[in-house]
Amino acid sequence: MILFTVNGQRISTNVDPTTPLLWFLRDNLDLTGTKYGCGMALCGACTVHIDGEPARSCSTPLSAVAGKRVTTIEQIGKTPVGKRVQDAWIAEDVVQCGYCQSGQIMTATALLSKNKAPTDAQIDAAMSGNICRCGTYNRVRNAIKVAAGERASTAPAPAAKSAPAKPKAKA
Ligand code: FES
Ligand code: FES
Repeated sequence: MILFTVNGQRISTNVDPTTPLLWFLRDNLDLTGTKYGCGMALCGACTVHIDGEPARSCSTPLSAVAGKRVTTIEQIGKTPVGKRVQDAWIAEDVVQCGYCQSGQIMTATALLSKNKAPTDAQIDAAMSGNICRCGTYNRVRNAIKVAAGERASTAPAPAAKSAPAKPKAKA
């Protein structure tokens, strides 16, 4: 039996200990915010935190999380740093298709939890394992700086919704 916690919930399971953590999160716990991209620890889509450190859940067997604390995208917004990161993501309108973004947010949150004011080079180094096919890298970097308080959001404010035009009266 393997004992660990996921998002503060105690887990005890007899599932095959070689099962990837990602499979267990998605199929057994229905935590589908963590995504499957490459399955080979190459893209970062499956990033979660294990004892606060970013980790590739696709290539982490359940046996490796025994006694550890797993945090997923479903919970990260309840932490102060994770909340700041998610707010900045919204302010900077980072997301395009969204597939890579839970992994991006998990890695960014781990970075800012250790380094409150990362430089561009430190951001790029920390985020280099998170691949985005939509090319949101500049917005990711900007959002991390907004979350760090290093710059104000420069994203345009959403346009005010105009009232629907009234139909013209017939002559
Ligand atoms: S799915 Fe895990 S790194 Fe790509
Ligand atoms: S937002 Fe589409 S892959 Fe990153």
